[in-house]
Amino acid sequence: MSFRLAFLFCPVYMLFPESPPHLTASRCMGHACSPPVGNLATGRVLHTLTGCCRNGTQELCSSFQQPCSEDTHPPAQMTDDPFLHPDTWWESSADQGQVEEIRLDLESRFCLTHMVMLFRSPRPAAMVLERSVDFGQTWQALKFFASNCSSAFGLADDTIQPGSLCTSRYSSAKPCSGGEVIFRSIGKDKEVEDPYSGEALALLTLTNLRIRLLQPQLCSGAPSGSSRGHNNNNNNNPESLPAGALAVATKRRSVPSKPAPYAVYSLLARGTCLCHGHAEQCLPAHQDTDQLPPEGMVSGRCVCSHHTAGEHCETCAPLYNDRPWRPANGSSGQPNPCQKCECHGHAESCHFAPRVWLATGGTSGGVCDNCQHNTVGRRCQRCRPGYHRHPAMPLTSPHACTRCWCDPVGSIPSQSNDEAPWCHPRSGQCHCKAGVGGVSCNQCLSGYWAFGPEGCKPCACPHKCDAFTGHCLDSDKLYHIPIGGKIPDLLHILSNEDERTWSKELAVSALYYTGKCSCKERKLRGVADLCKTKHTYAIKASVLSAHDKGSHAVVLVKVRKVLRSGKVPVSQGTHSIYPLSWTSRGCTCPILNPGVEYLVAGSEEVETGRLLVTLQSLVVPWSPMLGHYVAEGLRQGCL
Ligand SMILES: *[C@@H]1O[C@H](CO)[C@@H](O)[C@H](O)[C@H]1NC(C)=O
Ligand SMILES: *[C@@H]1O[C@H](CO)[C@@H](O)[C@H](O)[C@H]1NC(C)=O
Ligand SMILES: *[C@@H]1O[C@H](CO)[C@@H](O)[C@H](O)[C@H]1NC(C)=O
Repeated sequence: MSFRLAFLFCPVYMLFPESPPHLTASRCMGHACSPPVGNLATGRVLHTLTGCCRNGTQELCSSFQQPCSEDTHPPAQMTDDPFLHPDTWWESSADQGQVEEIRLDLESRFCLTHMVMLFRSPRPAAMVLERSVDFGQTWQALKFFASNCSSAFGLADDTIQPGSLCTSRYSSAKPCSGGEVIFRSIGKDKEVEDPYSGEALALLTLTNLRIRLLQPQLCSGAPSGSSRGHNNNNNNNPESLPAGALAVATKRRSVPSKPAPYAVYSLLARGTCLCHGHAEQCLPAHQDTDQLPPEGMVSGRCVCSHHTAGEHCETCAPLYNDRPWRPANGSSGQPNPCQKCECHGHAESCHFAPRVWLATGGTSGGVCDNCQHNTVGRRCQRCRPGYHRHPAMPLTSPHACTRCWCDPVGSIPSQSNDEAPWCHPRSGQCHCKAGVGGVSCNQCLSGYWAFGPEGCKPCACPHKCDAFTGHCLDSDKLYHIPIGGKIPDLLHILSNEDERTWSKELAVSALYYTGKCSCKERKLRGVADLCKTKHTYAIKASVLSAHDKGSHAVVLVKVRKVLRSGKVPVSQGTHSIYPLSWTSRGCTCPILNPGVEYLVAGSEEVETGRLLVTLQSLVVPWSPMLGHYVAEGLRQGCL
């Protein structure tokens, strides 16, 4: 008796030691891991329909004399320590033909690997093992046990037809006491490679276990056959059950000598908490008290590793949703951990977005939630509007994004109603008014003056002027800051700064009052036309502004392309060109309108270093075709 129990229980009792946390962590490290296996019934209440003395006097069984005062064979004796209490058992007082059941309700989902029952009474002639996966709402038979499967349940016997749901292996009347009933969830004909696969879980998981004892049987020489036989009868042959019907098996029958009531020494429901290979320890589901679970109890709440979370490690931890959750691989041992989202320290959690996952080719699908520290973006990698990257702080710093500061005088207010001033999220460059520069738009650009609410005015000089008085200054370093030039990071916002409309004060009047003078339009019909006049320079240029200097005019252009140059050096950038027509005609001929891009070809004045525009100069609005012509002309050497 004790020997047999020792054999059955020994592994279970050895497998639930309290291990220190650091040891716990290391077994799961880089590997699939499992919590210890134990008896799911230990520490839990087993429900039975009857007991020996449950109501003080009414329920009676073989071992008792009337009246009883205490049930000395309660269900808990099926799960007590078989070493300390080898001779304890649960005893039913179910009447003949009455169904008895043993039910184990679990508070969570668990895995049952196998079940072993050790009967004190003869094993039932018919019984069924059932499970529920929905906390008792529906039940599913795991195995039928009967000495005659076809007559009891209408099922094939798995000793004849392997894989059948019924077996006759554990239903013979002998031994009269100490007979086992064994069930395995997997193994033998239910071979499963990976215990964490969906296939395995379908076989292993349960929330409730129920054993329905349908038919007792008589064993000649059984201990204390019946001490309360009222209706002795002559027919105790289990084979006489009508075929196929469960209900029929429970039907009251007459027996010659009453079979002993069901009595069970031990019930082992061997299993473990359900953690998908991501935990090696489980704790009680509700840990609101300091009370330790009963010794040997298998608790249901996994202590998750591999960055998983949930009662069963069935989800990823909040900040680890960069790829879909997966169970560990029990065959290869791969832990399949959850992957951390890169949120640069600005988010507590992230969620998995299938669309992002697809877009990244299945490498990263995490989207950070509620980016903190004024960051935005899938990975909290940008500064939110009104903030820009602090030049000295790493992106992971809580101070990585700093508030924009834009001079209220020189900057254009943000369009949105955002309370913060707008600046470029990377450079911090504010959106400046015309002629204004500086990161915060707090000063005039070179070549402009009179910083104020209207921006800055262009200097009325060929070069620079005093930023406050507008007085012209001589300078060799001409236009190293492009006038009205683009600030690189603002390119996408100011799509084409040169196309902005100029106020009439800023442009030279003559250019706008073209009606005052008429210029003969020169038509360029082909390369030959280009070659008729000797042009020392040829440029593609857009006109920025023109300035009336009294005796002459200066036109500021931005040179886009230098097709030809003579002794006066010309390069891409801002240059001045000098129309000679001004003094004689009062206008620039040919006409140079601000904002327009031209092909300009003309002569130069080497002494003063000026590029001249004469009546013979070619000034034609630029087109790519024209560029092609000119390039051809240059190659053929006509220019
Ligand atoms: C025992 O008592 C319970 C409740 O106290 C009752 O539901 C049950 O029917 C009783 N059993 C018998 C056999 O009288
Ligand atoms: C089981 O019962 C059926 C019908 O009662 C009978 O035909 C069959 O021989 C029995 N099988 C065994 C193995 O006793
Ligand atoms: C688990 O690992 C084995 C062996 O490497 C592999 O064949 C199997 O496909 C893996 N299972 C899953 C679900 O990835």
